[in-house]
Amino acid sequence: MKLDEALDLIAEVPDFPEPGVLFRDLSPLFADGPAFAAVADALADTLDPAADLVAGVEARGFLLAAAVGYSRGMGVVLVRKPGKLPSVAGRVDYSLEYGTASVELPADVVKPGQRIAVMDDVLATGGTVAATAKLLEDAGATVTGVSVVLELAALSGRSTLDGRSVHALRTV
Ligand code: PRP
Ligand code: HPA
Repeated sequence: MKLDEALDLIAEVPDFPEPGVLFRDLSPLFADGPAFAAVADALADTLDPAADLVAGVEARGFLLAAAVGYSRGMGVVLVRKPGKLPSVAGRVDYSLEYGTASVELPADVVKPGQRIAVMDDVLATGGTVAATAKLLEDAGATVTGVSVVLELAALSGRSTLDGRSVHALRTV
């Protein structure tokens, strides 16, 4: 399947999760085998060849990081929402388009000097991936780049990423 055709499966849902937010729902894309494969392949093509690991942000980022890691034979770092991990290497709090959140890194997974590519589904305000990049960098890693399926340009997420390399398969 062509990448554009796959990305056209992303649904637009007005007023979710609160009035005034136009929510982009990737569920139909994930549920379509050829579309998911086209998107996973395109994300894998954005990887910096120097990357050692792929990090995925809970929850939808896990799917993408797992698919890319599997296809490239690379391990996956699970960046988690709070309260899920028995042993935590670090935590970063951040603001979302709607509400606040935190991300945590499992202990003893990331080693100083590792080069890590970050994957997520949507770049909105950039809070999630900026917090993830800080979490990984606080652990001594280098973030080689951030790859997302969809960038919501009006929310200026790119500007929170301080010049880090950002790849979006589609920008709206
Ligand atoms: C969504 C999305 C990104 C983030 C983007 O995750 O999957 O991770 O928000 O927003 P931002 O750029 O403004 O930070 P959400 O927190 O809804 O979690 P989920 O994947 O568990 O549904
Ligand atoms: N879709 C999915 N995740 C999101 C969105 C969205 O529109 N905005 C912020 N996180």
